[in-house]
Amino acid sequence: MTTQQRTIYDHFSRIASFYRHIRTTDAQPIRYIGKKLKGSKAIRAADIGCGTGRYDLLLFRYLDNLHLTCIDINESMLKQTSAFLKGHGIHRFITVKAQAHDLPLRDNVMDCAFSFNAVHHFDFHRFIEKVAGVTREGGFVFIYTRLQSQNARNIWGRHFPLFIEKEKRLYELDDITEAVDSTRCSNIEDIKKFKFKRKATLDQLLDRVRKKHYSTFSLYSDHELRDCLKEFKKKIVHHFTDPDCIEWFDENILIALRLRPKTI
Ligand SMILES: C[S@@+](CC[C@H](N)C(=O)[O-])C[C@H]1O[C@@H](n2cnc3c(N)ncnc32)[C@H](O)[C@@H]1O
Repeated sequence: MTTQQRTIYDHFSRIASFYRHIRTTDAQPIRYIGKKLKGSKAIRAADIGCGTGRYDLLLFRYLDNLHLTCIDINESMLKQTSAFLKGHGIHRFITVKAQAHDLPLRDNVMDCAFSFNAVHHFDFHRFIEKVAGVTREGGFVFIYTRLQSQNARNIWGRHFPLFIEKEKRLYELDDITEAVDSTRCSNIEDIKKFKFKRKATLDQLLDRVRKKHYSTFSLYSDHELRDCLKEFKKKIVHHFTDPDCIEWFDENILIALRLRPKTI
């Protein structure tokens, strides 16, 4: 593990117990996936970088006869997923600790694979190759993420000091297209962009930073984050008239890959 990977791993271990409560979960991408998979009698799927399972719960709500393999590198996150899904009466899943680029799954065994808000943590080319190998021909891989340029337009990108400079892991669509094309295993069948109107108080925003709701904040040193937080507060007060009603847009993208026929 590199130093940055260790920082991120420790970050997710630390916030696992409250991660779901500090992130906003949107049903729209899951509804979209539900429409795309409509008519499937049974779906065997993997969610890679599943975190604490907030999108897994939605997948079970929107997809009939789903059997899910929830995969993450972090045990603390997986424990949360397990308890969360069982707490909702869901048992058609297993959790597996693994790296996204080294999935311990047989070839062609999945009808479908998902990854939400996680691909920027992966070795992307190797992930695309691996996930294509475990997904059957004609199956789907859904990647939900935010692009570098989308990140630059949200409240953090616009107003939080150094946020753009620190967050260099996110991709642009061209990076994703190029990685997909280079593996030659799948085609991009669909690209759907989402724009969500958000509202929060200044106190809620400050609380999210202190709890490091985006892992980007774990890339600041303690004193750097303290200074930037002060600066952010000033900028928000200057820019918005009502600190109890701060509005902005978050943007995301969903990319649907379709597996090409496989030659033996
Ligand atoms: C930002 S969280 C997203 C979690 C979840 N998909 C969600 O949207 O709530 C990213 C997740 O990816 C996991 N992760 C990071 N690097 C990984 C890797 N190389 N292989 C598998 N999982 C990884 C982290 O442990 C974390 O749980």
